[in-house]
Amino acid sequence: MAKETNVNKVVKQHAELEQFFTGGFTVKGQTPGPGCEPSSKAGIEKKVELEKIAVEVGKCRKCELGSSRTNAVPGEGDCDARIVFVGEGPGADEDAQGRPFVGRAGKLLDKIIAAMGLERSDVFICNILKCRPPGNRDPKPDEIHSCLPYLQQQIEIIQPEVIVALGAHAARTLLDTNKPIGRLRGQFQEYYPGLGKEPIKLMATYHPAYLLRNYSQDNRRRVWEDMKKVLFELKMPVPEKQK
Ligand code: URA
Repeated sequence: MAKETNVNKVVKQHAELEQFFTGGFTVKGQTPGPGCEPSSKAGIEKKVELEKIAVEVGKCRKCELGSSRTNAVPGEGDCDARIVFVGEGPGADEDAQGRPFVGRAGKLLDKIIAAMGLERSDVFICNILKCRPPGNRDPKPDEIHSCLPYLQQQIEIIQPEVIVALGAHAARTLLDTNKPIGRLRGQFQEYYPGLGKEPIKLMATYHPAYLLRNYSQDNRRRVWEDMKKVLFELKMPVPEKQK
């Protein structure tokens, strides 16, 4: 029975990986839940802390986005995750549901995570901005400045081994640089959580929305190379690309 389940898992992983490379968009067999499910005792304490932040975010009016949003989107996933994915900010679907990466870009992120042999619930997914900028415009510097402490606290609580910054806004904000994403991705950078604290490895890669707009074999290969480096770093198995 267990053996059969493993075989099914491998078959599913190969199918997801193949879809990621060939451009299919449906992720089957995954029911991403909104909860932050602790996988350890430490995770339970982290869950409480993360929930406090989610409550604060829900009441936040530090910038104008607080009054235009439908729902704040604090983030979700494993409170004790080894990998935290950070995007730019909620879009229309995320604003409507209060959950990160549930729209078209989110479906592609699901596929990338599945290609890595993981489930959405194995990682933590959040954004630089917790509220949707109207019309999906770029975040303004004052909005990033007001919102960033929430993300910094989330990272401090979760203590991931690797942060994956999705796109230029996330990478530049977390690395405090103006370099283009093309120069930041592809090798590990370091995120500094604060004075006296150990840096955390950060892998920048293309944002799934960018990938959808520029769905070339080269760009998909680049993202997959970035994710393989994350898996190597964490000594996690790298699912093989199906021939
Ligand atoms: N794009 C983002 O950057 N974050 C989301 O949550 C959804 C789309």
